[in-house]
Amino acid sequence: MTQKLGSPGEARGWCAEARARGGRVGFVPTMGALHEGHLSLVKRAREECGCAVVSVFVNPLQFNDPKDLERYPRDFEGDVRLLAGVGCDMVFTGTLEQFFPESGGDARRIVGSEPGPAARGLEGARRPGHFEGVATIVRRLFEVVEPARAYFGEKDFQQTLVVRDLARRMGRPEIVVCPTEREPDGVARSSRNALLEPAWRERAPAIHRALQAARGAWRERGVRDGAELERTMRAVLAPHFPDIDYAEVRDPDAWTELMPTTPLARAQALIAVRAGSVRLIDNLRLD
Ligand code: PAF
Repeated sequence: MTQKLGSPGEARGWCAEARARGGRVGFVPTMGALHEGHLSLVKRAREECGCAVVSVFVNPLQFNDPKDLERYPRDFEGDVRLLAGVGCDMVFTGTLEQFFPESGGDARRIVGSEPGPAARGLEGARRPGHFEGVATIVRRLFEVVEPARAYFGEKDFQQTLVVRDLARRMGRPEIVVCPTEREPDGVARSSRNALLEPAWRERAPAIHRALQAARGAWRERGVRDGAELERTMRAVLAPHFPDIDYAEVRDPDAWTELMPTTPLARAQALIAVRAGSVRLIDNLRLD
């Protein structure tokens, strides 16, 4: 049975007891509106650690656009039902004030966590404060749960680098990055997909096609030049998305704010586009 808790304080006690019984806690932090991608992380946490804990908290600190925060999908009871179906041991939620009692519920009084060098460029440049907000809540969640391992989806590639760096500085937990879950037509699973208008949903597979075109250029034509890989992706995206935020590559093992100008030895292709009022991101390893 999935235990449902309404505050980080209760969650802290529950996790301490689980650890005291000798259990290893596997943790999946989420903002809810759960889909197959999240559930695959929970299943893996349970398989590997024997105990899976999930947090559901729409973290206001990481939204740079108040409209995005307001309409972010929320369905806590639906999430709890889905989690029960995959054997989640405990799910908890809480308010901003409960997570940061020192703030009295005022986000401006919360001392942010340093998101590190991976926060520079791409998402960090387009969404000021976003990764600081992510690092701040993830640090607090790790302090509450004290997991052995924490599981993140590769779809938010830059976030996985920020979180790895945070965990390294904190000295725990082990970070496990799991492959992006996709719909049958290649669209990366995301809570924001629920907000897409049908006409934009129809165009969305072009994002994965653009990433695959870059992978084809890398693997079949030996392209190692970032600018050429960018042109390849933009050529596929442009007929479908008039508003391309970026279509770039980075060395996944040596993150740089800007796209490298010398030939790459390894590459992660990353895309962000506007699909009407929704912003979609995706990425793919090329080498
Ligand atoms: O990836 C997310 O859903 C969020 O950024 C996270 C890690 C739960 C922090 O709020």
